[in-house]
Amino acid sequence: MLEKKGFPQDFLWGGATAANQIEGGWNLGGKGLSVADVAKLKPDVDIKNMSEHWKITLDDIRAAAKSSDTVYYPKRHGSDFYHHYKEDIALMAEMGFKVYRMSIAWSRIFPNLDDEEPNEEGLAFYDKVFEELQKYQIEPLVTMSHYEPPLALATKYKGWSDRKVIDYFVCFVETICERYKDKVKYWITFNEIDSIIRHPFMTGGLLREQFDTETEYEHSIYQAMHHQFVASALATGICHKIIPGSKVGCMITKQTYYPYTCRPEDVLEAQLDARKLYAFSDTQVFGEYPPYLLKMYEEKGIKIKKEADDDRIMKAYPVDYVSFSYYSSSCSAKDKTNLSINPGNTASSIKNPYLKANEWGWQIDPTGLRISLIELYDRYHKPLFVVENGLGAKDEVLHGEVNDDYRIAYMKSHIQAMYDAVTCDGVELMGYTCWGCIDLVSNSTNQMDKRYGLIYVDCDDFGNGSYKRLKKKSFYWYKELIRCNGENIAK
Ligand code: BG6
Repeated sequence: MLEKKGFPQDFLWGGATAANQIEGGWNLGGKGLSVADVAKLKPDVDIKNMSEHWKITLDDIRAAAKSSDTVYYPKRHGSDFYHHYKEDIALMAEMGFKVYRMSIAWSRIFPNLDDEEPNEEGLAFYDKVFEELQKYQIEPLVTMSHYEPPLALATKYKGWSDRKVIDYFVCFVETICERYKDKVKYWITFNEIDSIIRHPFMTGGLLREQFDTETEYEHSIYQAMHHQFVASALATGICHKIIPGSKVGCMITKQTYYPYTCRPEDVLEAQLDARKLYAFSDTQVFGEYPPYLLKMYEEKGIKIKKEADDDRIMKAYPVDYVSFSYYSSSCSAKDKTNLSINPGNTASSIKNPYLKANEWGWQIDPTGLRISLIELYDRYHKPLFVVENGLGAKDEVLHGEVNDDYRIAYMKSHIQAMYDAVTCDGVELMGYTCWGCIDLVSNSTNQMDKRYGLIYVDCDDFGNGSYKRLKKKSFYWYKELIRCNGENIAK
């Protein structure tokens, strides 16, 4: 019998974080305020209605900008990676990480967005982080924009709907590529680029009150999306030019949409839902807008303002690989009456009666990951990279230990699904970075107690604690998995 080939020998095992959720040091080293620094802790948020949670006004922003509070603005303290990075990277190395996905906080480099010169202290901080990673031969995988654009994007401009922002982003990208050209080979342009539709402020710095009407606001979100596509293509081109051999990926929030029933109308609904997401990766992979997106613009009367060169730029610099986050799946139905709604990653969907969910209602579906891998690979024939996956849970420290068997079970089942996709379905997969490998502040609820890490950080929702690191049971499990290159999963 032919022996099954497992994960490739150079498979990139590792973990992922984002600057705004892990670093802290919000006002240190010349860093300016970012949109994440004004995100408020709302422990009692209705997780089924996250759209309410994302709402923010200029008054809220002005109040936050005046305040130096870190309790109600938890992303200001994060897990204090700013001071703990050496210890944290040593722990990653102990687990055998081959890759560490992180982001560069744009506001550490250009604190006011439009600064004439980059902030040297900010650049030097990431030099130190990359040198530490190099010490252990861990490849950095850097996201250029992960929910942390400088706040000036919203206070001086109308977020990404303003064309000028492309120039500032390009300047940021040229600066970091030039500075880190010998240190970083793998890049992602925008984290979950599709999220601009769900939270326009956090992803794109757009505020409802900057626009006169709801329609103008909605159209501006699509205009901002266009600017991000052009900026992403330019960033890909810059990266390839400055760093020959570099690999640049797009990144989407992957959901698998199941028809709620086999009624053709539900199947169609699932297909249409999937297209809303694929619009983002199709554009970045094929370098042009898919016809169904143009049709939607036509139907909604959206007129994207383009400059003469935009189409050429988008076509000239497609991405090298497709990366995505995967936490759960969704159901689609034509008629949603009387169907229960389930919360999920910044968007809710119809409850799937066959799946269990975590404490925040996110449905757990490892098979959905295999389906996603097949769908994406068949669609794009490009290497894939799972850059976020994991279980948010409330961990308990008992006698100095965290026995997070539930997290191990979650990761094991998802890695098994990847293994099957690679070995049985012929999917080309570059790597896997579990989300929040070190506990960090949740993106959606801004809680610390929604933990994903293999490493526990002693800090509660209100920022109290020693910030000491503690290896969870999953730390040892993942270390062994990496040592075996995932082969132990197959047994
Ligand atoms: C992804 C984001 O959507 O989900 C991360 O890229 C985020 O930033 C992760 O942290 C998990 O979501 P949450 O809300 O549980 O932190």
